[in-house]
Amino acid sequence: MYNLNLLFSISLWASGTLAAIKSSEDTSAINISNDRLSFTVAKKSGSVSKLSLDGQNLLGSGGGPYLDCHCVDDGFWTPGNGATYKLFKGTDGAEKAYAGAMMSHDYKNTGKVLEQYWFLRDGETGLHVFSRVKYNNSKTPSGGDLGELRQLFRPSNSVWTHLSSSDEMYSPLPDTSGAPTVQDATWYVGDKKDQYVKQTSDYFTKYMFSETWRDQLVHGMYGDGSKSSDGSAFGSWLLMPNKESYFNGPTHSDLTVDGIVYNYLVSNHHGNGVPEMVNGFDRTFGPQYYYFNKGAKGTSLQQLRSDATKVAKTDWTSFYDSIAQHVPNLVSSSARGTFKGTVALPKGAVRALAVLALNGSDFQDNNKDAKAYQYWGDVDASGSVTIASVRAGTYRLTVYADGIFGQYEQDNVIIKAGATANMAATWTAESAGTELWRIGTPDKSSGEFRHGNEKDTSKTLQPRQYRLYWAVHDFPKDFPNGVNYKVGTSSLNDLNYVHWSVFGGKANYLRKDPYYTNVNNWTLTFDLTQDQIDNKGSATFTVQLAGVKTSAGNNDAAGDKAWQDLPYNVVVNGKQLPTWTIPRQHSSSCAVRSAATCYTTGHKFVFDAKMLKVGSNEFVLSLPARATAPEDAVLPESVYLQYDALRLEII
Ligand SMILES: *[C@@H]1O[C@H](CO)[C@@H](O)[C@H](O)[C@H]1NC(C)=O
Ligand SMILES: *[C@@H]1O[C@H](CO)[C@@H](O)[C@H](O)[C@H]1NC(C)=O
Ligand SMILES: *[C@@H]1O[C@H](CO)[C@@H](O)[C@H](O)[C@H]1NC(C)=O
Ligand SMILES: *[C@@H]1O[C@H](CO)[C@@H](O)[C@H](O)[C@H]1NC(C)=O
Repeated sequence: MYNLNLLFSISLWASGTLAAIKSSEDTSAINISNDRLSFTVAKKSGSVSKLSLDGQNLLGSGGGPYLDCHCVDDGFWTPGNGATYKLFKGTDGAEKAYAGAMMSHDYKNTGKVLEQYWFLRDGETGLHVFSRVKYNNSKTPSGGDLGELRQLFRPSNSVWTHLSSSDEMYSPLPDTSGAPTVQDATWYVGDKKDQYVKQTSDYFTKYMFSETWRDQLVHGMYGDGSKSSDGSAFGSWLLMPNKESYFNGPTHSDLTVDGIVYNYLVSNHHGNGVPEMVNGFDRTFGPQYYYFNKGAKGTSLQQLRSDATKVAKTDWTSFYDSIAQHVPNLVSSSARGTFKGTVALPKGAVRALAVLALNGSDFQDNNKDAKAYQYWGDVDASGSVTIASVRAGTYRLTVYADGIFGQYEQDNVIIKAGATANMAATWTAESAGTELWRIGTPDKSSGEFRHGNEKDTSKTLQPRQYRLYWAVHDFPKDFPNGVNYKVGTSSLNDLNYVHWSVFGGKANYLRKDPYYTNVNNWTLTFDLTQDQIDNKGSATFTVQLAGVKTSAGNNDAAGDKAWQDLPYNVVVNGKQLPTWTIPRQHSSSCAVRSAATCYTTGHKFVFDAKMLKVGSNEFVLSLPARATAPEDAVLPESVYLQYDALRLEII
């Protein structure tokens, strides 16, 4: 006992100080540490170059978190070498010591500035991170698109063994070395017979670990202990409770983890819109939190993940208020208010969500305003929703729900600092008369159709099928006679999760020759009675899409390629309705990037009810035949779309 006490006092003395946070800076680095976590920002790279938890090196020979962007003439830029750096020290409102490092770099003195911030607090084992993008150049008023902006925790030869993007999606790390590329950033790894192949899939692409932002809180990597020095398990997670500074609302989806733990702040993946850096652009992204945890030997991925989920619910308000002096554009709690809504929901509404985003605009398009922020909250069964910590401003309220076509939108919702905005809204579901039938569930996803959310039971971890490399879902084998859906007797499995123009060809490893027969035209049949059509004036066929890929892919332009704007036709009992031309700016690379929800859009075909008849009726849903356009990358060349839901009404 005596000896132990002595040892304790000696070690206190040896550390020389009781300060809970240590920091130091010289010309080459900034070092910051607390009792458990320590990190180094290397000034030659702008990257965290060393990071350890309880003495375990978590980066190996890798680096990060660091920042990069696709935002300069040459393409990608990793700022840092030639940047200016700052060290911050302080004590926050909760009496916790903290220190932070800042990197600021002006790209070739063009006025295009990227900044990265890393903060460590006493008692925590993670880094609070922010990134800022600024453009100030009146001579060149447009700095171009901020094409991609991301933070990367990028270890190499370190302790990590597993990926975890959501509660249900996790996997051993794949080994793609030497594996054939089957599509851009996609590999056939089936010959390896390793744990990834046994448990997850014969193919690997980072897009399999994409998630939709709506409920996304935690993703990252797990080390099962087999590679750590004492057998302890480790976790490296990105916690993203705060989503105000991302763009495109709750349906935005993006990459999360593939051996790198990403914080994708901006990208055009899945049709996400990106902002243009015009003169005066100045936006700070964050906070998010890179969190590191540790468990005794044998601690599972789920246990460390669940700890991370708990930590993600920490209230950091007083800390963020304290560091707002160091982080430009970070708005403190005194400039925020609360939204309290009571929404009368339409009957049948499930999983309703209230969104506050850019006034006067679809939330998917809020990237057009650099000052746009976004918030959302679940509407409970009684119709109540509370959204706290909203920056003072004017917003559009959007409410949508599974099971209901259309959505509720109201502009001019004003949030005042330090106040609660109470609002009552009545959402009357859109209607164009009597509903004759519907197919699918309006939920902004094609997951309910064949190969969507269904699990792949051939592998032990049973990933959802839409996450797999799309070519394994061989359309000609599934639908040798094409899609023929009979309302009332067919099941959702009789509709594919993708409506292709062509199946096979480029980027299809399994079917290398394009297949055209019975692909682009789908047939729906349904019976009607005299009663249903008697004395009716007009019929409305609503098509809601969970995604559509024109030749513009994820970009809003496709040069001079064919099919930038995509004509979609509906033929009612042999008579074609006016064409819906789906504009290029609504295009997204979706199913082929392992997604069932991308940029959503829709159309109502209104036609004379006299075109319907007693007995059997037929709709042909028609994409142009053989509609392909060249792709520079190894990607399929067919246009396609993904249905969310369809319905026919009459009045
Ligand atoms: C930072 O820490 C490293 C060891 O990780 C050390 O070599 C270096 O001298 C330290 N730099 C400063 C400025 O303290
Ligand atoms: C923008 O650039 C001009 C000219 O260099 C400078 O005077 C001004 O302070 C800059 N503004 C900001 C916000 O950086
Ligand atoms: C909000 O949007 C509506 C609809 O576009 C517009 O009439 C209104 O002026 C906008 N309010 C503000 C404060 O911009
Ligand atoms: C598909 O439907 C359209 C519209 O009825 C028709 O013009 C076309 O000939 C059909 N067949 C093919 C292979 O495109």
